[in-house]
Amino acid sequence: MAEAEIQSGEKEYFLDIPQKNETFFLKGCANYDWGMKNRLARIFNPRSGKTVMLAFDHGYFQGPTTGLERIDVTILPLTPFADALMLTRGILRSVIPAATSNPVVMRASGGPSILKELSNEHIACDMDDAVRMNCSAVAVQVFIGGEYETQSVGNMTRLVDAGMRVGMPVLGVTAVGKELVRDVKYIGLATRMCAELGAAVVKTYFVPDFEKVAAGCPVPLVIAGGKKLPELEALKMAADAIQQGASGVDMGRNIFQSDAPVAMLKAVRKVVHEGLNYKQANEYFLELKNAKNG
Ligand code: 5RP
Repeated sequence: MAEAEIQSGEKEYFLDIPQKNETFFLKGCANYDWGMKNRLARIFNPRSGKTVMLAFDHGYFQGPTTGLERIDVTILPLTPFADALMLTRGILRSVIPAATSNPVVMRASGGPSILKELSNEHIACDMDDAVRMNCSAVAVQVFIGGEYETQSVGNMTRLVDAGMRVGMPVLGVTAVGKELVRDVKYIGLATRMCAELGAAVVKTYFVPDFEKVAAGCPVPLVIAGGKKLPELEALKMAADAIQQGASGVDMGRNIFQSDAPVAMLKAVRKVVHEGLNYKQANEYFLELKNAKNG
């Protein structure tokens, strides 16, 4: 059969169509290998260039945080509306169905509880296990200005080295100690350090003048939600962050502690992927919430 095909002379090479040489859609990520890019493209939507990650890893140092007492009951119904899940390997293996199609961002640092010095973290998940769990990224807390600053930076750089060997992106999470001021100067320092030291993506907090933080960080930034706010305020924060250069959100409490978590998650998606302003997004949230309650 193979010989017959060669003799037919009817192959089509589309000689008039040059092969496309596509660049990668995420800021600062063009020089990674294919596997790393493919993992990033599972987390970030290639059409919008943005992501809505659902964070529910809080138990790794806080125990059963309000809203996360029963992840099987409260979080599983949200997963179809999230672009990625940020969680611990304990919850992945005990609660998340293996048939899920959500990409996984695995918490890979930990150690101290809320009762101790939080910056004293170690690497809490081997890269081999992250690959075994088919993760799309690993996340590590970095405590710039914290007591164990250097140790936490070392956790990140070790994960970056291990990630480079297998094509696993590292999400550097800037943790802000109680004694530190969350402002553009501090967040600018912490995010830039994470990027300089190899994080493919950085998670941080929204602060006034965020556009300067985004401009000074050469890789994508996603914002955490922080403590529960009224939905209008949380949507405004997300919208401001997106307008000022964030590539998405990695939000937890402002979604799973909402009265209507699915409605809130869908409203956040409108802001992040469709550029809805926060007032329109809040109306959408209320419509969904009232329709459910009506
Ligand atoms: C814990 C984390 C959380 O994932 C992060 O804080 C996101 O959750 P929230 O929106 O509730 O702040 O990194 O350290």
